[in-house]
Amino acid sequence: MSTNVRPETMERITTPELAAAFIEEQVAEVRAQVGDKKVLLALSGGVDSSVVAALLIKAIGKQLVCVHVNHGLMRKNESEQVVEIFRNQLDANLIYVDATDRFLDLLAGVADPEQKRKIIGKEFIEVFADEARRLEGVEYLAQGTIYPDILESIKQAEGKKAVKSHHNVGGLPEDLKFELVEPIKLLFKDEVRVVGEALGLPHAMVYRQPFPGPGLGVRCLGAITRDRLHALREADAILREEFDNCGLAEKVWQYFVAVPDIKSVGVRDDSRYEGWPAIIRAVNTKDAMTATVEEIPYAVLHKITYRITHEVEGINRVLMDLTPKPIGTIEWE
Ligand code: XMP
Repeated sequence: MSTNVRPETMERITTPELAAAFIEEQVAEVRAQVGDKKVLLALSGGVDSSVVAALLIKAIGKQLVCVHVNHGLMRKNESEQVVEIFRNQLDANLIYVDATDRFLDLLAGVADPEQKRKIIGKEFIEVFADEARRLEGVEYLAQGTIYPDILESIKQAEGKKAVKSHHNVGGLPEDLKFELVEPIKLLFKDEVRVVGEALGLPHAMVYRQPFPGPGLGVRCLGAITRDRLHALREADAILREEFDNCGLAEKVWQYFVAVPDIKSVGVRDDSRYEGWPAIIRAVNTKDAMTATVEEIPYAVLHKITYRITHEVEGINRVLMDLTPKPIGTIEWE
């Protein structure tokens, strides 16, 4: 499938049967494209790269080399899940790289959001390229490009400005020249999910809410510190657990915690207790260009507030962000 234009006759993939036919077609196409050569894939654990990984495992098994870079900015247990599903359950050829220190050392003291994004994006490519150089016989690079990405790059080529610099694994260094394998590039997100389920990936992974490439790095606001990042990760895990428990996870498109670099005075065990606030953001949107704020039942908010302020070291308040997009973007940075 080398064309970048979705044919008008292409049927929308809405059923397991249509997904099965698509998978069969792509398996044959990938096999014909790569023969017995190795294919490299940056496996973030997001929906798109996970579906590409599962599809390629089906097509070429261990010829696929997955590299999962843990930049230290993943959500709680996320990297562990990638290893569990792909290495342990799907028997993938998976290289796990814990690059936490590399990223956090570079980010120390950097408060500017765009600079943080650039550092994370650049370092991600460097860590991935380091791994790629160590491997032998790799000629192909698989990417989880989907159709909206192609439409977005056409828009940018036409001179429309992006609000934030998103990152992916494009732009590898000159010495690494790979031919691209992009088996889902003509699919829309809902189709990718149907294909993912047909490939046997867990529902929670296929319906995972969007998570930005720079991860918790753009939610630990300002200059990232390890203690505040840790508090953010724990608070975010509580929010996700409670949304799961009360069925909100199915109704809200994206929900997370951000922790700013400010402290307020509180009281704990009869003593002064200075801590950061955890800010809850929960939005619904169709295309992420605009977003509305969800009404969350007070009982749920009270429980989340209680748990975060009692279970997370360093947090002494919980706030709710009521700002639609526009004017606020979904992420704070
Ligand atoms: P904003 O904050 O621009 O976010 O309203 C819109 C959507 O994009 C996600 N986002 C990113 N996704 N890499 C990504 O893959 C990024 O660098 C990035 N920044 C924001 C954000 O989570 C929201 O879903």
